[in-house]
Amino acid sequence: MTSRAPRLDRLVEAAARVRDRAYAPYSRYRVGAALETESGRIFVGCNVENASYGATVCAERNAVAQMVAAGEDRPLACAVVTGGASPGTPCGICRQVLFEFADDMPIAMVAVSGRRRTRHDTTLTQLLPAAFRLRARKR
Ligand code: THU
Repeated sequence: MTSRAPRLDRLVEAAARVRDRAYAPYSRYRVGAALETESGRIFVGCNVENASYGATVCAERNAVAQMVAAGEDRPLACAVVTGGASPGTPCGICRQVLFEFADDMPIAMVAVSGRRRTRHDTTLTQLLPAAFRLRARKR
């Protein structure tokens, strides 16, 4: 399949929308994530917290789970939307989980505070240089 140019603006909107569904009663820090795959489909996830804090799952990993459950495994781009004055970056575990499915990809990180949005674009390689790989990816 030929690679398409991902549409980051559309991805940011999808991540902002699913962020409204975040379940974050403990931290009150809501996160939305969206992945665009080679097929052009978008998969979204929000953080889901738990009273046993370690059982919390981040938005990015929930988006990856949606993608995999739909039978896809090639994300082209990612958007992460948080609250606050500056964008939250994906945590270390999520960076490694994203790397499982993409050697590199653009990542748009957006902070929403009222009507104000602050966006910072980066890449997976910038966030996770020298990522761990067990063996060559099989596809
Ligand atoms: N969180 C994410 O959803 N993604 C990240 O990459 C970092 C952290 C969530 C987990 C928890 O619900 C809240 O943010 C505070 O850590």
